[in-house]
Amino acid sequence: MIKSLRGRLFIGLTAIILVTGAIGGTFAYNWAFGEAIEMQDSVLIQLASLAQGHGFSGGQPLHGVEEDTEVWLIESGKAPQGAADDRELFTLRDGLQVATWKSQPVRVLLRTRSDGSRFAVAQPTAVRDETARDVAFRTLLPIAVLIPCLMVVTALVIAHSLRPMVRLAGDLDARRADDMTPLPLEGTPSEMHPFIVSINGLLARMHLLIDQQRRFVADAAHELRTPITALSLQAENLDSVALPETARERVVALKQGMTRTKHLVEQLLALARHEGIASSPAGMPLASLDGVAREVVAGLLPVSLDHGIDLGFALVEPVTVRGEPVMLAAIIRNLLDNALRFTPPGGTIDVGICRENNAAILQVEDTGPGIALADMDQVFEPFFRSSPPEGEGTGLGLSIVKRIVDSLGGGIALENVASAGRSGLRVTIRLPVAEAAAERPE
Ligand SMILES: Nc1ncnc2c1ncn2[C@@H]1O[C@H](COP(=O)(O)OP(=O)(O)OP(=O)(O)O)[C@@H](O)[C@H]1O
Ligand SMILES: [Mg+2]
Repeated sequence: MIKSLRGRLFIGLTAIILVTGAIGGTFAYNWAFGEAIEMQDSVLIQLASLAQGHGFSGGQPLHGVEEDTEVWLIESGKAPQGAADDRELFTLRDGLQVATWKSQPVRVLLRTRSDGSRFAVAQPTAVRDETARDVAFRTLLPIAVLIPCLMVVTALVIAHSLRPMVRLAGDLDARRADDMTPLPLEGTPSEMHPFIVSINGLLARMHLLIDQQRRFVADAAHELRTPITALSLQAENLDSVALPETARERVVALKQGMTRTKHLVEQLLALARHEGIASSPAGMPLASLDGVAREVVAGLLPVSLDHGIDLGFALVEPVTVRGEPVMLAAIIRNLLDNALRFTPPGGTIDVGICRENNAAILQVEDTGPGIALADMDQVFEPFFRSSPPEGEGTGLGLSIVKRIVDSLGGGIALENVASAGRSGLRVTIRLPVAEAAAERPE
């Protein structure tokens, strides 16, 4: 069973062409064959009419009117050789008939002249049939040439007719997973409209569903934030209470747990917030990427000092992009948070910001272990942490970064850098540069 519509159409139409060709060819062949035989009969009749007036004095059959047509004129009683054959032939009555002469089947026309002499015009049926077949075959030639031409034209017409469908599939394939804009009806054949309308309906329902889910996560995370903050405060308050040593240890564990939970809720909220952002960054405000980066780095310097890590800028160029400053800050904070977590003490973290043609480049390079190649594809999945999980991450950071970068119309690339005696991860983010440099915010 052929699955493709194109294959089915082609095979169906080709079968019709072949069957029609075969039927037409058979009819044409048989008709031309019959016509050729009749033509040859009429040649025999014409020759007989010519011979009617003139007796043939030669005592043997006259060979060929034309070499390859092999027509014989036989006068009764004038053949010294083969007389038996001739005698037998002249036992037949006048007229056109099939007979055996010289032990071969012949088409023969016998006539009697007014003086009573008889003659015959004969032609071997094998020769006649061969000539007729030859003529008949020639009528098949145009059909034989036409069939492959028709097959090529059919294939072209099918390919052309199915092109809108192939284009539609290509459009759908090339879409981002979260792009729910309806498919256009213009430029598509009307037969496809119900199909496109159904897909658009499905896209709208999916959009609604995803939106509901995103709002649910955002609401749940938001609702959790207040009680968790309250609980953290309560845990902090325990510090000022005189507690036995064992209880104090438990309070430390409790506070760590609270911090982790708070981080999880914050990350969930960030993920839900950035998920539903319109994919066009055109309507967003202008923001200074280098300015935001400076602020975030400054905020994290105490942490890097604690860890004994050298955090700083390798290169900073002023670059303006379109995006909310909180979004840019979330990108940089998450990348630096990872770098700080995975870089061992004594390591370095370099932040670079520059402009390359129309792209703003943000690069964060650390001297940690890097990411195993097998995990590279999955690190952007929510909740993915490479195994064995190190540190206290939730596995949401890079998904948040990816979503923000996507919504700003940019791209993200991760690569492990390995040079003599050093490893590390280099994250490169490209964002479109906001053209209006004059509008650069202060
Ligand atoms: N700079 C890095 N060096 C080595 N591994 C990294 C680095 N950044 C990320 N990873 C790996 O990718 C995984 C996913 O990172 P991601 O930021 O998404 O989550 P997380 O850091 O575990 O959690 P969160 O960011 O929410 O605190 C991490 O668990 C870690 O295994
Ligand atoms: Mg992280």
